[in-house]
Amino acid sequence: EPELKRQQAILSIDQGTSSSRALLFNRDGKVVAVAQQELDCVYPDQGWVEQDAELIWLSVLKVCRQVLAQAVQLGIEVLGVSISNQRETTVLWHKAKDKVLAPAIVWQDRRTADYCQQLKDQGHETLVQQKTGLLLDPYFSASKIQWLLTHNADVLQALADNELAFGTIDSFLLWRLTSGQVHATDTTNASRTLLLNLQSLNWDQELLQLFGVPEQILPAVKQSADTYGLCDTRLFGLALPVLALVGDQQAAALGQGCISAGSLKSTYGTGCFALLNTGSSPLFSKHRLLTTVAFTVQGQTFYALEGAIFVAGAAVKWLRDQLGVITQASETEALAQSLPDNGGVYLVPAFTGLAAPHWQPEARASLIGMTLGTGKAHIARAALEAVVYQTADLLAAMLADGAKVEQLQIDGGMVANNWLCQHLADVLNLPVLKPSQNEASAYGASVLAGVALGWFESLADVQFSSEAQQFLPQMSADKRCQLLSGWQKALNSVLL
Ligand code: G3P
Repeated sequence: EPELKRQQAILSIDQGTSSSRALLFNRDGKVVAVAQQELDCVYPDQGWVEQDAELIWLSVLKVCRQVLAQAVQLGIEVLGVSISNQRETTVLWHKAKDKVLAPAIVWQDRRTADYCQQLKDQGHETLVQQKTGLLLDPYFSASKIQWLLTHNADVLQALADNELAFGTIDSFLLWRLTSGQVHATDTTNASRTLLLNLQSLNWDQELLQLFGVPEQILPAVKQSADTYGLCDTRLFGLALPVLALVGDQQAAALGQGCISAGSLKSTYGTGCFALLNTGSSPLFSKHRLLTTVAFTVQGQTFYALEGAIFVAGAAVKWLRDQLGVITQASETEALAQSLPDNGGVYLVPAFTGLAAPHWQPEARASLIGMTLGTGKAHIARAALEAVVYQTADLLAAMLADGAKVEQLQIDGGMVANNWLCQHLADVLNLPVLKPSQNEASAYGASVLAGVALGWFESLADVQFSSEAQQFLPQMSADKRCQLLSGWQKALNSVLL
């Protein structure tokens, strides 16, 4: 029998901003097959960030088919599907025509900054924070939906025809996987829209009214591990059940084993997101962090305090694609290491504004402290250091909110860079743990599917691996203070 179980797997889709991936996880949490495709964003106007939802779907379909073909070759039986996804990104489509009506407005998009400011000026932020745990910022879906409802004739027509549907990426992928049979989302994704009441876990009438969003366009809110529906057999030749939907940052927390109150992880992907599990009741921040659903499983909801940074790996992508100072992200490690120090050069990567704890959508990036001796190594190092200093700012806000933090568990594409991991440990003055398996988001989603399948009786039944590389702080307190005060100066020059 154990032999038989090893031949079974869950197909975990990890749909991020920069790539779509599909992974097969066996019951022991090992990756047995993987496929990946990179994705681009387009920037049609200042502060705008869009993606083509059709291309996202096609990339997901392709990588799923690739791993399912590997499963056939390896003799693995795939039992179900889980999805972890970039959150907040807003897709609107016509249900009967199954047609996407506008480019997806990506979470980083700032076009609704003025609208959010107006709502703030009208004094709505307190109510919004109390109900949703979030702040009035273009980051979240509601203002993006409102923008599409007021700027796109096709969207309005679909609404008039009662055929309009909204979804974050999880919901859109579920719709496509089930060929339009199911329009649903989970509590974690719903908690990023600015429309969900964090306590009742229902769409909130007052918020719907505030943002002018008609309730009929919204997906049904389900648990993160649930029975969502069956994939259309024409897609994969199998009626695979979709068993879990979860925002990728919450998924990463789960994948890192942060299932009980007090555990903290930070993921370094396109952006950086630190989540602290706060247990079964939401903790509201006094220092402009976010409160969000961590997961809903077996009728129980856990919450998290979240610090969000919009640009982490995105700055490295910028070095590669816009500046051309590197040809591969991995080169930044040797470049940073080639210098004895940062030479006083700081990058404040407010390319899409600043998120926690500043929330300034109109702030813009700045590179300061350059001399004629500044070269590409300084710029690369400044991009990496910025990620570290911003994490330090998040941590300070968490501590001020009463968190007790003894170590930081990290994951995401950027943590392949050991120089960055060590600098994190040094500047945070905390042990930093990098798990040997760096697939936290996809794994976290597969664990939820495992609970839905009955592989695990509950989350407590999951054997999370504790194998990790440890980075211990080695920097002197003086040096740390000097670096942080240099960062603070640079930051002040960008804050409005
Ligand atoms: O909130 C946005 C976040 O979910 C994006 O994740 O993986 O694309 O950096 P990622």
